[in-house]
Amino acid sequence: MDELSVGDTVEFEYPLDGSGTFLTRLSEAANGGVGPGDGIVAFSNLCTHMGCAVSGNVESDRGVAGPCPCHYTTFDLAKGGLVIMGPATTDLPQVRLDVEDGDVFATGMAGLVHGRRNNLA
Ligand code: FES
Repeated sequence: MDELSVGDTVEFEYPLDGSGTFLTRLSEAANGGVGPGDGIVAFSNLCTHMGCAVSGNVESDRGVAGPCPCHYTTFDLAKGGLVIMGPATTDLPQVRLDVEDGDVFATGMAGLVHGRRNNLA
């Protein structure tokens, strides 16, 4: 966690293998944020409109993901993935995080990952 600077983005798979997810450190406190200044957050990288990957357009210094490369939805990462603009009607699913001994762990999802009936199967 101490190695993560504001603006850094780390990609991983959660809640299932193959489920693209990104973790980033914002310059401001965030809903569900952990770590220094409560600025570390993680989200599914699949846009809730039609599932295009938004992780390539994360601007942590502005606290946004997007615009999505397909239809330009933008999400507010400090406000739980809230849709700022664009055709998506559902917020970006947020990964619940916890910190133990300086490491960040994913403990669950808030929201349904695009294309899945649930987040467990
Ligand atoms: Fe992202 Fe359409 S898939 S806006």
